[in-house]
Amino acid sequence: MTTGRQMKLGFILHGVGRTWGDWRHPDADPGASTSLSFYTRQAQLAEKGKFDFVFVADSLSINEKSSPHYLNRFEPLTILSALAAVTTKIGLVGTLTVSYSEPFNVARQFSSLDHISGGRAGWNVVTSWLGDTAANFSKTEHPAHDVRYRIAAEYLDVVQGLWDSWEDDAHVADKESGVFVDPEKLHRLDHKGEFFQVRGPLNIKRSRQGQPVIFQAGASDDGRNFAARRAEAIFTPGTSLEDSRSYYKDVKARAQGFGRDPDKVKILPGIGPVIGATEAEAEAKYQELAALGSLQTGLGFLARSFNDHDFSVYDLDGPFPDVEAIGLNSNQSSSQRILAEVRAENLTLRQIAQRLATPRGAFVGTPEQVADQLQLWFETEGADGYVVFETLPGQLDIFVDRVVPILRARGLYRTEYEGETFRENLGLDVPENHNTAAKRARSAA
Ligand SMILES: Cc1cc2nc3c(=O)[nH]c(=O)nc-3n(C[C@H](O)[C@H](O)[C@H](O)COP(=O)(O)O)c2cc1C
Repeated sequence: MTTGRQMKLGFILHGVGRTWGDWRHPDADPGASTSLSFYTRQAQLAEKGKFDFVFVADSLSINEKSSPHYLNRFEPLTILSALAAVTTKIGLVGTLTVSYSEPFNVARQFSSLDHISGGRAGWNVVTSWLGDTAANFSKTEHPAHDVRYRIAAEYLDVVQGLWDSWEDDAHVADKESGVFVDPEKLHRLDHKGEFFQVRGPLNIKRSRQGQPVIFQAGASDDGRNFAARRAEAIFTPGTSLEDSRSYYKDVKARAQGFGRDPDKVKILPGIGPVIGATEAEAEAKYQELAALGSLQTGLGFLARSFNDHDFSVYDLDGPFPDVEAIGLNSNQSSSQRILAEVRAENLTLRQIAQRLATPRGAFVGTPEQVADQLQLWFETEGADGYVVFETLPGQLDIFVDRVVPILRARGLYRTEYEGETFRENLGLDVPENHNTAAKRARSAA
């Protein structure tokens, strides 16, 4: 039985892989994270599978213990612009942090990507959890967790305001009269707020889809409110069906509370399927993956939730160190989830690190079994779709060739893109230009 509602799928372009050991797989290209041909092949493969979008994640501070992909990778908007030229339908989503950038530049960059791609851009608005980032941006301090979300809200007001600088018919370009632009239809923003003062107007008009699609991934209380208020698609950690259902229920209710249509907020758990032709083959692949996940990977994932804290200084078999405060100001939700697990089961540092290094998840199995899980989460309010990362080289090919046809046969997934723009394919509305709307309201009054 299907509801007629269809699953949304994104693919995370993650170069050499997520863990510290992925690059050592015999089929892995250790240079993948800065290989245009690697990114092109993966984006085109995802487009062949009619994925809604590809996603390039990002952060802005590394140290010698960072994972191989973090150490050496593309800047998201640059690679997405290149991919715009070699794809035609797939959405192009990139991370950019509000804590270390200027809204005017960012509005311009995403708008440019949106034009270059014919209306396929999406922005994953993040606040940055790594305190050391400040040192790369001439700052002495990283803003506190709650301040970062306040910055994010104001920042997004500015960017979205700038995106509407031009009314849709402002660009007259009448050669006869010599009128290039109707000055009545080009608007300043004149924003003066707690963090930003931006006059505008932006020097690029709205795109074919009006504005880029807004993504978010906040999972703390502040993060959920921001996502529910502003995001059109939300990434979640995808740790379990139970967690996903609780997040889904909570954030959809928050969105409704903010006066939004919950169907226009797509919730997309991040998942890493491990697919084999048979159960035995899937199990063998999972073991292949587990063998790549060392203690270093586990400690690395731990560090990521706790502001890159160095866990190697502690006794691995002793009690878990007291790092709660660090986590609260960093990746709050993920650090809290880890601490809850540690406390509930009285885990040592080694035990939790090993668990994090080789998470099994719900998506290990044959194509049918993986499709069953995708369907289960989708139909029981755990997900509106997924953002998929490749656990082992070749897994995207198997997903596209073997899982996608099953989802299609079940009526859960598209056979063709519905439209030309990212918004059309995601089933999202084109946001009304607020300047046009304000003018209409004035003339009606
Ligand atoms: C699938 C997925 C992708 C994410 N991508 C990024 C990213 O590219 N850059 C980033 O800084 N954070 C990324 N995040 C983390 C979120 O931005 C956020 O920091 C995290 O969920 C913690 O939020 P909280 O402090 O509200 O708990 C991602 C999260 C998920 C689940």
